[in-house]
Amino acid sequence: MPLYKTINFSQTTQILVWKITESYEQLFSEVQLNEKSLLRLNNMKSQLHQRAFLSVRKLLQQVGYSDFNLYYDQFGKPHLHDGKHISISHSHEFSSIIISDQKAGIDIEMQREKIISIADKFVNNKDSLRLGDTNIQDYIKKLTVKWGAKEAIFKIRNEPGISFKNHIWVNSFEIKDKKTIAILEMGNIKQQFSIYFEDFEGFILVYAFEK
Ligand SMILES: CC(C)(COP(=O)(O)OP(=O)(O)OC[C@H]1O[C@@H](n2cnc3c(N)ncnc32)[C@H](O)[C@@H]1OP(=O)(O)O)[C@@H](O)C(=O)NCCC(=O)NCCS
Repeated sequence: MPLYKTINFSQTTQILVWKITESYEQLFSEVQLNEKSLLRLNNMKSQLHQRAFLSVRKLLQQVGYSDFNLYYDQFGKPHLHDGKHISISHSHEFSSIIISDQKAGIDIEMQREKIISIADKFVNNKDSLRLGDTNIQDYIKKLTVKWGAKEAIFKIRNEPGISFKNHIWVNSFEIKDKKTIAILEMGNIKQQFSIYFEDFEGFILVYAFEK
């Protein structure tokens, strides 16, 4: 399938999602890669990862960019040569990008029951979320939003030492709200983020902006 979802968030921010149904060969024949990307692609162990990587280049094409407009810093964070902000995420058969004039982070995650068993590693008291408050499906969705929000914030800050559990919390929300606020508090940094999310086909897409 080609483009799965486009969110025209504002005049200067777009979010795009690809549902990866194409073969590796088809995707490879439709994009052009710079040398570093070719090398990375060839070193990837799984074809799922390769297809996700290529599908991100298809997403770039939708908004007039190519792999040649993209570079990565030493931490693996992607940047665009024209100075716009970009963030990238892929999970199973979905990939997504956000392109914005503002600093932004994106994360797409499959909704899995397994997240309950690791909740203790990334949820803190200020996250104020308990299974007792809700049914299990709703709890999994909310945990996945919280995880995705923390990943998206991490991608904005790109800072070593950030602990999802100790430094970031996400205000309470309902899935139907499709938005919330998160706070990062680390040393003398205290920063708020606007969080937006979408729930589709068993996945949660989260994107974040600095407030
Ligand atoms: C780097 C990291 C953010 C990637 O997230 P992920 O969920 O594994 O994978 P995603 O598909 O969502 O994101 C991968 C993309 O993130 C981007 N990325 C990688 N490192 C990045 C960084 N330091 N900053 C911003 N973006 C980064 C890349 O674009 C990458 O895709 P690409 O290389 O194919 O272009 C993640 O592995 C990480 O390190 N998270 C924080 C660590 C942490 O504290 N986790 C556990 C807490 S309990």
